[in-house]
Amino acid sequence: MAYVQWSSRFELGVPFIDADHKVLVGLLNRMHDASRASGDLTDLGGILSALVDYTRYHFAREERAQESAGYPDIDEHREQHARLSIEARRLFEAYRRDPGGIDIGDLLDFLSDWLMDHILLHDMAIKPYLLANLEAVTAAEGVDFATLMNDGNNLELVAWGNISVLAIEDSRPFAHVLKAILQVIGIKEIAVAENTEEGLRLAQDQHYDLILADWRMEGGGDGLDFVHQARAKGVTVPVVMLTGYVDESLEAAREGLAISEWLQKPVTSAELMACIARNVAA
Ligand SMILES: [Fe+2]
Ligand SMILES: [Fe+2]
Repeated sequence: MAYVQWSSRFELGVPFIDADHKVLVGLLNRMHDASRASGDLTDLGGILSALVDYTRYHFAREERAQESAGYPDIDEHREQHARLSIEARRLFEAYRRDPGGIDIGDLLDFLSDWLMDHILLHDMAIKPYLLANLEAVTAAEGVDFATLMNDGNNLELVAWGNISVLAIEDSRPFAHVLKAILQVIGIKEIAVAENTEEGLRLAQDQHYDLILADWRMEGGGDGLDFVHQARAKGVTVPVVMLTGYVDESLEAAREGLAISEWLQKPVTSAELMACIARNVAA
């Protein structure tokens, strides 16, 4: 059974808000799945990072709708959002510094209690202002995730919709979240392989602009095997290696492997976008 069970009592009837809330619940459930699997602790950090970023995006959308609708209690609602955002960011930074130092069970309970209470008490209060308010919904839908995450990073000119990405990631919860983040960035063509064998098949069948590969995978080879075999088969696409262990870049350098970049997990959406933009020819 899912950790957080979605129920119709959480539904506002405003499609973009309900969809966002379902994404947030899905991220909490993926984090719970990852915490129960014996996988890499950094995968949990990646999911937490996605949760922090998606929450920021959702709050921006909700606030834009409230502004447009002239919602009278917007300041209080904004304040609630700001407090959670600061706390979630603090928790992510603490996790990044010391993944073993945070109790994931407590963290999940805190975040899910907050979300459920906030939806039922505060988001429900905006429902009458947004139902059938096309102008407010259109305003909210104008919030762009990539622009919001990258303020000041000069990535406005990147045509995310034209980029194709193959991700090779053996952790199912993290692969699911990585795909969700690539989608909300605006990337339309995304393939996910669970192991190097599947990754090789996909990379040979079709051209991708970029391959994101996990360095450590359980069973079916690792990132190093993948790059070895892909290069031997003539796949020349840039490969970005996701790793929790920086020292491994030395190993690959010794082997003379053409790896475009090493991205240290857990990665934020802003870091991921900047990395994709650097490695994909415009
Ligand atoms: Fe809210
Ligand atoms: Fe909300």
